[in-house]
Amino acid sequence: MKRQLHLNLFIHGRGHHEASWRHPTSSTLPLTDIRYYQDVAQRAETALFDSIFLADQLALGGDVTQAPRTWLEPITVLAALAVATSRIGLIATASTTYTEPFNLARQFASIDHISNGRAAWNIVTSWLATAAENYGGAGQVNHADRYARGEEFMAVVKELWDSWAADAVIDDRASGSYARRERIRPINHRGDFYGVAGPLNMPRCPQGRPVLVQAGSSDTGRRFAARYADAVFTAHMAKATAKEFYTDLKALATAEGRNPAHVLILPGLSPMIGSTEAEAQRLAREVNDLTDPVVGRKRLSGRFGGHDFSHLPLDRSLVPEDFPDPSSVQAARSRTEVILNLVRRDRPTLRQLLGYLAGARGHYVMSGTPEQVADLVEDWFFDGAADGFNIMPPLLPAQLDLFSAEVIPLLQRRGLFRTEYTGTTLREHYGLPWPASAFDDPTKSVELQDFVAGV
Ligand SMILES: Cc1cc2nc3c(=O)[nH]c(=O)nc-3n(C[C@H](O)[C@H](O)[C@H](O)COP(=O)(O)O)c2cc1C
Repeated sequence: MKRQLHLNLFIHGRGHHEASWRHPTSSTLPLTDIRYYQDVAQRAETALFDSIFLADQLALGGDVTQAPRTWLEPITVLAALAVATSRIGLIATASTTYTEPFNLARQFASIDHISNGRAAWNIVTSWLATAAENYGGAGQVNHADRYARGEEFMAVVKELWDSWAADAVIDDRASGSYARRERIRPINHRGDFYGVAGPLNMPRCPQGRPVLVQAGSSDTGRRFAARYADAVFTAHMAKATAKEFYTDLKALATAEGRNPAHVLILPGLSPMIGSTEAEAQRLAREVNDLTDPVVGRKRLSGRFGGHDFSHLPLDRSLVPEDFPDPSSVQAARSRTEVILNLVRRDRPTLRQLLGYLAGARGHYVMSGTPEQVADLVEDWFFDGAADGFNIMPPLLPAQLDLFSAEVIPLLQRRGLFRTEYTGTTLREHYGLPWPASAFDDPTKSVELQDFVAGV
């Protein structure tokens, strides 16, 4: 069989365009109504997407009066989606900086059980400066320390997910034996940031461990992704930078001793689809006309760690000196690079830059016919830029439905995308192997300690 494309649907507000919530074709359901997410996930499952994804930020955006966001806590939403769908993978974001590994390991293992093997965790270190104010208020943990903490966090959660062998539970009513002692192990972790005895208080999950997704793009972020990620989300405004990222990350994964085919690279793509190019462009203009520069400036400021852009005029060409040095930014460093590359290349005015970012916040935006979208997908897929895409419809659900009805059949006809689900787990949809377990290694035997627990 030909190498297959992977498609994730990124569910975000009423669409990825900043003004989508005001457009007549976007959903009228409140963004706190679980039926909205269930409906969109079911549409994606009907279209055979590999997975859906929910992002998360741990603070209220400063633009709340002019722009809604996705509000519900994503792991909770996954539980509701798990029972409303049966095949599609379910990815939620959670932070290594602002939670404990035991909590997180337990939550995602639970979702993996609830969904029968469809859970995935988008590992973030949380770049938003205001999040720190909600967790102790001691100021933002800097970029390097966030990743250092993330490394130890990963070691702990992976051990917790591996603290039960797959055959630990025997559930034998006749003999009165529920689980095999020698197949459950403590982890006894004592590190710089965490002390966790383990084992996890739950049997091993159906996928061995949840699928791991990551989206860091800085040097440290890429090395982190190369060590841990099964799939990598990334933002590019041009194929050339996507190719550079793809080549680099696959090489880093190989250097980590991993099979690069098992690290899927999924750049963001936000297509505005019309039956003609002119119609797609008209629709894009219509949504752009609903944007508010005040919201755009606030979001740009958030991207650059709170830097003040209020003095910049809207209609003069920008120069790199209008921005702080990315190495001084403690927020999402790679996205600041994406923005600066665009400024260096195109010298847009602030109004034009805010227009680009309104589309999909620095991901690849295009307007075109279904054929043009399918051509781009195929080109990036074969030209070493992508193993699939993180599809970010500008308007939900209208533009998702167009992608599903018009673009996916073209990809199927070209032999690039499944015509039915062949597996039941996300690991199978992504073509990933069963994760290695310390229980397979006889030199690593640690007896479960006797312990007393009660409720
Ligand atoms: C598609 C995509 C989704 C992301 N979702 C989140 C998110 O939900 N929450 C978050 O804090 N960061 C999110 N990020 C940001 C990354 O996790 C990461 O922090 C960012 O790319 C900066 O990493 P870097 O400093 O290594 O470049 C996302 C990035 C991408 C490309």
